[in-house]
Amino acid sequence: MTAGVDSPLALDALAGLWQDPPTLPVKWLYDERGSRLFDEITRLPEYYPTRRETEILTARAAEIAATTGAEMIVELGSGTSTKTRLLLDAFVAGCDPGGSRISYVPVDVSDEMLSVTAEILSADYPDLDVVPVVADFTEPGLTLPVANGPRLAVFLGGTIGNFTPDFRVEFLDRLAAALAPGDYFLLGADLIKDTGRLVAAYDDKSGVTADFNRNLIEVLRTGLDARNLYADDFEHIARWNPAEHRIEMWLRTRRDVNAWFEVLGKAWHLPAGAEIHTEISTKFEPAALAAELASVGLPAVAQWTDVAGDFLLTLACRRESP
Ligand code: AVJ
Repeated sequence: MTAGVDSPLALDALAGLWQDPPTLPVKWLYDERGSRLFDEITRLPEYYPTRRETEILTARAAEIAATTGAEMIVELGSGTSTKTRLLLDAFVAGCDPGGSRISYVPVDVSDEMLSVTAEILSADYPDLDVVPVVADFTEPGLTLPVANGPRLAVFLGGTIGNFTPDFRVEFLDRLAAALAPGDYFLLGADLIKDTGRLVAAYDDKSGVTADFNRNLIEVLRTGLDARNLYADDFEHIARWNPAEHRIEMWLRTRRDVNAWFEVLGKAWHLPAGAEIHTEISTKFEPAALAAELASVGLPAVAQWTDVAGDFLLTLACRRESP
């Protein structure tokens, strides 16, 4: 859909595409097609994080329910219901009959996806109160519904790795502020490992990740009514940045690009070999992540990995004063 010159995409494009290096906020990778491609990525043989996180949740869900005794689960970026269901099953099974009901609060920007999720989960879990909240949890001012007992905020999938270090601290700070002492936070994060495996996970043989990355060009082309802009003119690059311990995704021009954005009334020239920065996926070291959480008032109470040691779940508790 073509947007106006003051649309969010137009403003982000104006702010980012003429920078050096050109860049665009990561969220533009996740339009409908991008989200579908990401879903495909989670099933690729090279892309281990989703399977590893599911393994940890399967093994630890009952322990998480027992340790936290939470009566409310708040999921930030409520996506993959498979992983959420592992938690919900454990919490519903673990709650005392006649005691207070468990509520599930999916937080997401997509109103439509939330209503669908809420409807399906309410039908499948009659003992669960589903309370969807439409919000961008990366923006300031997140308020959580009140509960009778401890709340558990969950942020899965390793999406924390998308954030720059500065923004990560800002986000964790705000989350700590939204939580009350005694509330919990469950965080999924991918771990530093063999570079070859990391790069393969972001540059798969079948080219799904390449299509996912190049979809950004499609988003620009359709959203800003671009002329002379073709996804095929861009090559997918996934490279390991050892200093920042993160995978970086870039798009490199295969030839000179001379595009015109009708919506912006602006030309976009890129020489052959120019690189656009599209996404980062930071990998962590368990102790360093625990220290970062502790520094914002969320000390870890447990850390678990899968058997292979690829992925990490950290359960943290909101301390008295941050
Ligand atoms: C959705 C941010 C968790 O960083 O692994 C996967 C995104 N990009 N392959 C990740 C992604 C390319 C993914 N997260």
